[in-house]
Amino acid sequence: MPYQTVKGTYDLLPDTMIKFNMLSDLFRQFMNLYGYSEIKTPVFEFTGVFQKENDTSDMVTKEMYTFSPNGKDSLTLRPEGTAGVIRSFVENKMYGSNELPVKLAYIEEMFRHERPQKGRQRQFTQMGVECIGDKDPLIDAEVIALGYFYIKTLGLQGVKVLINSLGDSESRLNYRKFLEEYFGPHREELCFDCQNRLDKNPLRILDCKIDSGTKLVQDAPKMVLSEASNAYFEKVKHYLDVLGIPYEVDDRLVRGLDYYTDTVFEVVSTNESSGSQATIFGGGRYDDLVKEMGGPSISGIGFAIGVERLMILCEAEEIFAIDKSIDCYVINLNEDKDYALSVAEELRNNSFSVEMDYYKRSLKAQFKSSERKNARFVLIIGEDEVKNEEVSVKDTLTKAQETVARKELTDRLDQLMEDYYV
Ligand code: HAM
Repeated sequence: MPYQTVKGTYDLLPDTMIKFNMLSDLFRQFMNLYGYSEIKTPVFEFTGVFQKENDTSDMVTKEMYTFSPNGKDSLTLRPEGTAGVIRSFVENKMYGSNELPVKLAYIEEMFRHERPQKGRQRQFTQMGVECIGDKDPLIDAEVIALGYFYIKTLGLQGVKVLINSLGDSESRLNYRKFLEEYFGPHREELCFDCQNRLDKNPLRILDCKIDSGTKLVQDAPKMVLSEASNAYFEKVKHYLDVLGIPYEVDDRLVRGLDYYTDTVFEVVSTNESSGSQATIFGGGRYDDLVKEMGGPSISGIGFAIGVERLMILCEAEEIFAIDKSIDCYVINLNEDKDYALSVAEELRNNSFSVEMDYYKRSLKAQFKSSERKNARFVLIIGEDEVKNEEVSVKDTLTKAQETVARKELTDRLDQLMEDYYV
């Protein structure tokens, strides 16, 4: 039996890679537009980078690929990008040598041992940004803008921005007490995980996959923000208005990771094809993470887009216009391949995409290949062409054929392309 991919992992075959690269190329353009520099961190880190004391998130408690190759160090395949980037920011003392905020972006594979389903994989790719070192509502709005306008530029319809504030530590502490008092007498009605969350981080009960639909959770008291957090959130909303970004405040949005403070957001799709995995990207502010990693007490904010999830949506909305055509196909009718090979290479050096026949098949078979590859020009090289240092050029759009001196070939092809579009 031949090997197959491991459950929850997928090959990105050539046609999918074209789409993947279209999405990542555009994301890199957006990184540049907003002043982000790309960073690559290791695929695995010490487990402590991701796992903090009292962590309650599913990702950390249940879904990490943790291993110990030498029986001593505990290592983990990264389940998300933020923690590794912050570890690197601190380790490389980026706060000292750079003007703050430091803006870092990444396109990297992540690993979570989740139950696979459409849009949920065990290995997937995130495109993310982290803006570290300053805290201002304008930055929150700008980070949301980067992600939102990226999605809009792709042309996706039915995209909704949800935002919420989890408050500063004062608001969260108060809210935590309220929730403990509220849920405490109903401990038995909560799922096993939420009983645990009640002791460690009761906020997470609000977005539990099992309990969030129950009346008990629906009726839970709402977060009351401190004056400072409220003013901060109002300013974030103001700047989103200035940027023309429509949003909905969702006071039940707490996000799946423990490190968030103040602003959190998700961009969701209302398109049916996204199924239950409707969140295209999510993120938020983290006031304490840099300090927890051993750095100074500075705040950061970021988000990550799931590329495979985005790809499903783009496919459903027929966003991808894939052009797999090539510029030239070289038909060689000679035993000797030297002349055809050097013509092909010269064209490639002049930025024409070229494919050629390797086997000296029949003229008919080679023409068939040129059609399959959707070549704009078919270049025919027979005995006479080699003798006279020429190439016969067939323009598949105009159907015209002519013989061109080899030294004039690239100029002539350029001109034919230009003439056609004038
Ligand atoms: P997250 O919400 O866990 O946040 O993941 C971000 C995005 O990654 C999701 O919205 C989804 O598109 C994609 N994603 C997550 N899990 C899977 C999966 N199993 N299969 C396919 N796609 C998935 C974070 O990871 C944070 N680090 C985001 C962030 C950056 N917050 C601040 N900075």
